[in-house]
Amino acid sequence: MRPPANPICVALDAPDWDSNRAVASATAPSVGAFKVGLSAYVGSGSGPLEELAAERPVFLDLKLHDIPQQVAGAVAAVARLPVAYTTVHAAGGRDMLRAAADAAGPALELLGVTVLTSLDEPALKVLGLAGPIEQAVTRLAELALEAGCPGLVCSPLEIAGLRRRFGGRAAGGPLLVVPGIRPDGAPAGDQRRTLPPERALADGADLLVIGRPITGAADPGAAARALATAVGR
Ligand code: C5P
Repeated sequence: MRPPANPICVALDAPDWDSNRAVASATAPSVGAFKVGLSAYVGSGSGPLEELAAERPVFLDLKLHDIPQQVAGAVAAVARLPVAYTTVHAAGGRDMLRAAADAAGPALELLGVTVLTSLDEPALKVLGLAGPIEQAVTRLAELALEAGCPGLVCSPLEIAGLRRRFGGRAAGGPLLVVPGIRPDGAPAGDQRRTLPPERALADGADLLVIGRPITGAADPGAAARALATAVGR
């Protein structure tokens, strides 16, 4: 599946659907996809996905991580929803990733989450993962791609390295979905590894996941328009 022509994917992360609906309708003209994350999905369930999918492709970001049988069942259930992209943690291991890839079928693009953009090297060390973050990302990316995931979620700082290692989209390289996007001067919040949108695209990102810089703005529609202009859309 090709990524949408407009690479901005707005993250609808409010637990109540009224807030998400307001952001979705204000931003729809300026974005290429909507991401529904854990807060919104646990808060509101799958009912609202239909109305979103009527406007733009939906990325249901559940970051699944469990035993292979459970994850396969969950991915098969997601494949029955109006969802174009969904996520599994690559750290769930080869068997879990293969089971997820088999369950996804042709219409659902499965993305392997490498290392959360909220984690930095000291935080990874606490988890027992010593060494440069790029090594962990490359290892997890290899695992996910070998297991049959067509795409990856990575931080903006890893896009260029992943493109060097696995190639560009034209050469059959993975779909790269990138959160941790911050326009120059925007507060990072809990994100640790960030880049402005133009840089992330220049490095080879396909889809930019942008949450608080849009949803936390006084006028989310205007914030989305400004970002779309910044990336030439
Ligand atoms: O508000 P912000 O722009 O930081 O939102 C980023 C979104 O991307 C959140 O919905 C978060 O769950 C998601 N995400 C992330 N890091 C990943 C994968 C997804 O921040 N590795």
